[in-house]
Amino acid sequence: MAKRCLLTAGPTREPIDAVRFLSNGSSGKMGYALAAELARRGWEVDLVSGPVALACPAGVRRHSVTTAAEMYEACRPRFAACDCFIAVAAVADFRPRATAAGKIKKDAASLTLELEPTVDILRTLAAQKRSDQTVVGFAAETTDVEAYARRKMAEKNLDWIVANDVGQPGIGMETDDNAVLLLGKTGQRLAFGPASKAAVAQFIADTLGL
Ligand code: CTP
Repeated sequence: MAKRCLLTAGPTREPIDAVRFLSNGSSGKMGYALAAELARRGWEVDLVSGPVALACPAGVRRHSVTTAAEMYEACRPRFAACDCFIAVAAVADFRPRATAAGKIKKDAASLTLELEPTVDILRTLAAQKRSDQTVVGFAAETTDVEAYARRKMAEKNLDWIVANDVGQPGIGMETDDNAVLLLGKTGQRLAFGPASKAAVAQFIADTLGL
């Protein structure tokens, strides 16, 4: 039977009012490249995707969502059945505590938005990980990339983490190329790139034995 992979990709959008939202510049390209690579390798792939301008890769089942809460609800029922969970999405860490009905008018001299944390999808699901499952996270960092990534891997109960230095121009979010540092929980440390996101996806799949 084909192995199953659950992936998240792209940004999330957290509504402020009827026409505005909090989000980030994630293009979804890295997550989609991984989904495409695993489908090519014969995996059954469920891709839970935030709003992106990308076509669904061949052989991949896409579940389109908008908010972090929706992304979590799409992943939650699929986690137990997957052999591998890869969280590539740039999930918004905070959302407005309330969403204004209609469009907020610019009458006021200033506007304060109250934010509350969103669910940490990766941390919540990885806490339920069985020993036969592999869980992989991504870490977007601008400083102390390796130290922060290792800490995230341990704190979130991950098997692997792909660290991305998003402080470098032309590499990482919104771009076609990526340079990564792949860290494993038993001490593995492999650097790759800069290279196309398709090549990075192949490197990750090869190294993890997917
Ligand atoms: N992630 C998630 N749900 C969230 C936030 C993050 O699933 N609400 C996942 C991302 O998909 C990524 C990993 O957690 O695989 C790390 O995301 P990152 O933004 O680098 O780290 P945070 O945990 O948000 O910590 P910080 O922003 O403080 O660096």
